[in-house]
Formats: sequence, structure tokens, C-alpha cells
Amino acid sequence: MERVGVLVVSYGSREAAIVEALRKSEEYRVDLYIADRQRNPYNLARAKEHIVIPNLDVDRILSFAEKFKGEIDFGIVGPEKPIIEGIRDIIEEKVGIPLICPTKEFAIEGSKVAQRLLFQEAVPEVNPRFRVFAPSDYPSVEEAKRDLVKWLDELDNMVAVKPDAPAAGKGVGVWGDHFTSREQIIEHFTSNYREGAVIVEEKLEGEESSFQALCDGKHLIPLPETRDYKRAFDGDRGPNTGGMGSYKDVGDCLPFMTREDREREEEIVERIFRRLKGRGRNPGLIGMPFYVAFMHTRDGPKILENNSRFGDPEILNIIPILKEDFVEVCYRILEGNLRGVEVDDKATVAIYKVPPSYGGYMEAYPDRVRRDEVGSPINLEGAERLASLYQGRMRIYPASVELRNGGIYALRSRAVCVVGIGETIEEARRISLEGIGAIRGGGLWNRMDIGSREHIDKSIAHLRRLRGFRPVER
Ligand code: AMP
Ligand code: GLY
Repeated sequence: MERVGVLVVSYGSREAAIVEALRKSEEYRVDLYIADRQRNPYNLARAKEHIVIPNLDVDRILSFAEKFKGEIDFGIVGPEKPIIEGIRDIIEEKVGIPLICPTKEFAIEGSKVAQRLLFQEAVPEVNPRFRVFAPSDYPSVEEAKRDLVKWLDELDNMVAVKPDAPAAGKGVGVWGDHFTSREQIIEHFTSNYREGAVIVEEKLEGEESSFQALCDGKHLIPLPETRDYKRAFDGDRGPNTGGMGSYKDVGDCLPFMTREDREREEEIVERIFRRLKGRGRNPGLIGMPFYVAFMHTRDGPKILENNSRFGDPEILNIIPILKEDFVEVCYRILEGNLRGVEVDDKATVAIYKVPPSYGGYMEAYPDRVRRDEVGSPINLEGAERLASLYQGRMRIYPASVELRNGGIYALRSRAVCVVGIGETIEEARRISLEGIGAIRGGGLWNRMDIGSREHIDKSIAHLRRLRGFRPVER
């Protein structure tokens, strides 16, 4: 078997799934060089070389890559921070290792303003109405606020307020969710405006989905649609999180979408891709430059935002059911030769178990927190035994946990993801929940309604109502 060395820049479960897919290769013997955010037990057990870089600082990843330069054939980068900071340009230039992720120029996740302006050129009809308030355009914040008030009058306060840079200031705020008065909007706006430009856009009503596509710079290969659960608690209540879980149906569409919705999405993203790509192949656009959050509205899909990387958890609905050798897929991406990828026609449900400090759980449900368990080691053995009985239909992917003194301990972010694979969403969900239930310790908790019939029926009814009671399912 041919040997291949792969650098993986890792954040959590998303990369554990990538590691699993690389190691499953039947064509290549894969040596892994993992730059990790923590001592992830899954990665530690599989890496040839492993380093912990808690903030994923690009210079430190570069030193790690330099040290093993002669042994690494290519790399793959999961999290957004190093991608936005230009890790691809830096590592390719300094050590000549090709990386699977966009270059800094094409990591459009880095600026929400630049994204909106690009969509305005390429696909204006799927942008909500928006305005950019940039400190460089106004002599004082008071003048910006005067314009803001006029804009709020026009949109009747029904807005989303977003800082240009990801996670700057107070982040995204939405009318009805984060504020219910104009004073609160202005307060949110002002705190973000201190950090830089702010977008104030029309609030869209509908159902969200995640569209992901692999790209080799020349071909855009759409992957099946998934639905992410952003809010912390059941019934979509509580604060936004990184994503508490996600589901995928059989086929490439979701139960609340029509085939036409999906085809529209493919066409929209293809148009954005062509616009950015220019003529011929553009190697700046490899990996997953387009992971688009859509809102399915009365008038069809509209764009919420674009990310320049794999979705977490959304890619966990796909990677475990890829029918192809993942190393081969990586080589085809690097060579500009990716004509398609085959995915097993299954439903998948991914559910995260998270620590009590995550998502405001302790404050919202102090009585439910298992205090005696908080900070205790996490036992994955029962879940792993179950997973082996399920012969691949249950996958356990550790994330923000660290191996310490022989035990596994939760850190601050999402701790472990369990993916269930089935013939229906219902079956996949049952398997995922069974695995989740077998993980003990750490006081971990999870949402119970990821992919539930009730939640899906609510999405279908919501869109039906918005679309004047026309059927929305396929
Ligand atoms: P973003 O970081 O832009 O994806 O925003 C985070 C979340 O805020 C999205 O997943 C939506 O739930 C919500 N959101 C963002 N923009 C809008 C909008 N224009 N209308 C309604 N909800 C939005
Ligand atoms: N699931 C949301 C994200 O990956 O940004």
C-alpha cells in the first residue's frame, strides 16, 4: 500500500470524522499529523504526531508542519479561524504543503459585508434587503444612528443586526429573538459598531437548511442537504450555539423542502461560484468554500450567510456515509479533478452531548444539572461497545474533551457527537439517542428533539403556512 502523510488541523468532532475517513482508506496507508485544539483521545490514538495548540495559532501550526515537512503530502483544515487568517497561503508558501481549504482571499466567511456585496452582484434576488454601516462612512456614531433609525422605520424594526467579522462585538441579533424594542436594537448595534462595520438587514421568516458543496476550484459538487439545530434547548429555545445536532434525510433534500427549492439552491451557489472563480480553474477555491445557510421563505430560498469550511455538525451527517475513498477524494480536490462524490442513500442524525456550562443550561435549568457529576470523567466505553454492535451505524466522535491522567474530561465546548445511520430519520435518530444515552459522566446533557417527527412536522407546517398552504414536501 502506498503511504501518505496528512496534516489535519482539528477543532472537534468534525475533524475526528475526517480522521476516521482518512484512516479507512483501502488504497493508502495514512500517517496523520494532527494540530489539535485539545488532547482529543480519538485523535491521540490515531495520530503519528499530535500537538495541542489551544488557540490554533497559525504560526505554531506552521512550525509543526515545518518539522514534519518531508513526511506530509497534503493537509486539510477544519475550523474557520486559521482559514480566515490565511493558513493556506502561509503553509503553501513557507513549506510547500498543499492544503485543502480556501486561500485567505477566497475565505469569504471572514467578512459578512463582503459576502452580502458579492451576493448582490451574483444573485441579488436571494439577498435580504440590507444596509452596511461602516465607521469610515460616518463622522460620528450619532450620525450613523440617525441613518439607522431611518432604516429601522423603513423595515419596521424587523431586522437582523450583524457585525462584519465573525463573532465580533455581540454577534448576530435578530428581532423577536434577541430584541423586542428599538432601544435594544440600537444598543446591540452600538456595541457591534465599536468593533467595525455592521450590517442591518431584513429579518427573514422561514425554515433554515445547510447547503454544503465540495470544490476543486473548477467543479462544484453539492452534498446532500442537512438541517442544523442552532438553539441550545428543545423547541428551538435558548441562546444560539455552534449547533446542538443536525439531520439528513435519505436522498439529497429535506422533508420540508421541495425538489425545486433544492434545485434553486444548487443554481444560486453555482452562480456565486462562477462569479468568484472567473475563467478556468481557480485553485484558491478548494475544499468547502461554499457552505451556505439558506432560509426557505414564502418566496423560496434566501441566503443567511456563507461559511468557507465544513459545517460542524452538518458534515458529520455526510462523511460517515461517503462511499468513496476519502484520500482519493482529497487528491481529486487538489488536482482539480473532482467530478462527483457518491454518498450512501441513508438518513443520518448527529447529536451533541455538551457540558452544563454550555449554552446557558446551568442558568436556565439549575435543577436539572447533575452537580455530583460536573467535572467527573466521561465514560465512553458503553457507547463504544454499542457502536461496535451496530457495525458502523453508530459513530462516536469526541470533540471538546481532553485525555488527562488516563481519564476523559469535558472542556468548555461541545463534548461528544454521536451519529446514527438508518433507512429513515426516525431510525437514525433512535440509534444516535441510544449512543448518547450510553455516554456517562461529566454532567453532560443534550437536546432530545434533533430530527424528531414533531420538530420536522412543525417545519413542514410552518412553510406550508408561509406558502399559502401549498404542499411543501417532495
Ligand atoms: P449567521 O451567523 O448570519 O448565520 O446568523 C446566525 C443565525 O441568526 C442564523 O442561523 C439565523 O438563525 C439568524 N439570522 C441571521 N440572519 C437572519 C435574517 N436575515 N433573518 C432571520 N434570521 C437571521
Ligand atoms: N453548524 C454551524 C456551523 O458550523 O457554523
